[in-house]
Amino acid sequence: MTPFDIASINKRFSEAEHSYGKPIFYLEETSSTNDEAAILARAGASHGTVVIADHQRKARGRGGKPWYSEPNTNLAFSLVLRPRVPITHLPAITLVMGLAVAEAVETFVDVPAGIKWPNDVLLRGRKVSGILVESSLSQDRCEYVIAGMGINVLQRSFPSAIEARATSIVLETHRTVTREEVLWQVIMRLALRLESFESGALPELMAEVAKRDEVRGRKVQVGDVQGVADGIDQSGELRVILNGRVQTVRAGEVTFVD
Ligand code: BTN
Repeated sequence: MTPFDIASINKRFSEAEHSYGKPIFYLEETSSTNDEAAILARAGASHGTVVIADHQRKARGRGGKPWYSEPNTNLAFSLVLRPRVPITHLPAITLVMGLAVAEAVETFVDVPAGIKWPNDVLLRGRKVSGILVESSLSQDRCEYVIAGMGINVLQRSFPSAIEARATSIVLETHRTVTREEVLWQVIMRLALRLESFESGALPELMAEVAKRDEVRGRKVQVGDVQGVADGIDQSGELRVILNGRVQTVRAGEVTFVD
């Protein structure tokens, strides 16, 4: 696979009307783009700054799990965000990003893209993308948010431990797909969805997320909570019903038990 064509994407972003990907930093190799983006954020990087790498030595997912991605084959990038939203809306940002990724991915494939609360995008029930949001809060203020995204684009096979649960865009389409085009589409959708998020359209965004909710109605285990998933509330928490009683879950990994 060839290295990411940063020159072409830089040109496209510089001509775009939104503020994302201005600037975009490309690294052949790094430990984690989330760490690189956090360093930039602490040094004052502006909202929309992107760090993308062809290979991450220590890419991580939620809960400190490793994130596996073949070098030069997929997309691994992080955005520095300084969202102007009430701090109570922030937990929903992962779902808003997931919505944008799902919409972008769907433009390349022939199947609908679903969202598995809180941070996965699925095609035919298999994970095509994971999102890792890490925020720096000081008292009641959000200093910055780092939104890291891994999107499987051109990978055709996966390690045996995840092969039944993973997929990529190329495996779900007959069309030609490039990493540069996928990044462009994802950033365009993110720009639109984050603009709505900042202008107070959280209820509308959550209604869109609900249409793609792959967990609703399924029997799930999340941490200590077991029951039937009953959708996602306005603050981004998962509702789980057990014996007629609703419990809300703020964070965790969903395991399907049916
Ligand atoms: C998950 O599925 O748990 C989230 C995976 C997030 C992976 C991306 S790849 C770019 C960024 N850098 C990281 O170290 N992680 C995120």
